[in-house]
Amino acid sequence: MKKARIAVLVSGGGTNLQALIDAEKAGKLPHGVLALVVSNRADAYALVRANNAGIESAVLTRKDCGGQAGFEERLAALLEEKQIDLIILAGFMSILGADFTGRFAGRIINIHPSLIPSFCGKGFYGLKVHEAALNYGVKVTGATVHYVNEIPDGGQIILQKPVMIRPGDTPELLQRRVMEQAEWKLLPRAAELVCRKILKEKEG
Ligand code: GAR
Repeated sequence: MKKARIAVLVSGGGTNLQALIDAEKAGKLPHGVLALVVSNRADAYALVRANNAGIESAVLTRKDCGGQAGFEERLAALLEEKQIDLIILAGFMSILGADFTGRFAGRIINIHPSLIPSFCGKGFYGLKVHEAALNYGVKVTGATVHYVNEIPDGGQIILQKPVMIRPGDTPELLQRRVMEQAEWKLLPRAAELVCRKILKEKEG
């Protein structure tokens, strides 16, 4: 069976990458293959996860590429060289410019740890999202997988899953529960959905 080639972009611990690796191993990603992991940080633990799973990986930093434009140029070249069909941002803590998102329109998805349009956009990433949700006092939060366009966290929503806030929640406790109850389930499901869609489009 034909499979869509997936690149996962990471910056940190890579638990969402791990969820994708586990899903692929369990046969839950039948229309996709994890072909490449790219980190914008050399010390990201996600790189160890990629290595343990036997997935090719690369480190590309803005600094080494002479800035954002150079970074995006090198990244695009690498993705094209590896014939990547789908780009998954999984804890990738850098905003991609309009040239890049336009070049790969419909081919980039992101996981965000809130119910978009709450607690999203520039400045809302990682623990900050959960801090903001707790400070606001919402009773329900969750996670969202969406397409990536030129607006940070502004692309079309693919899947969402709610998670209840509990008394005594801290940002750390909430982050972990949103990951366990929502993110690690949602991301592999969305990846499979989009892989199927991309393959269908390719077949014309
Ligand atoms: C995840 O909670 C992910 O949703 C979030 O960062 C964490 C990365 O964890 N992403 C964002 O906030 C993007 N705006 P991981 O490296 O263990 O997957």
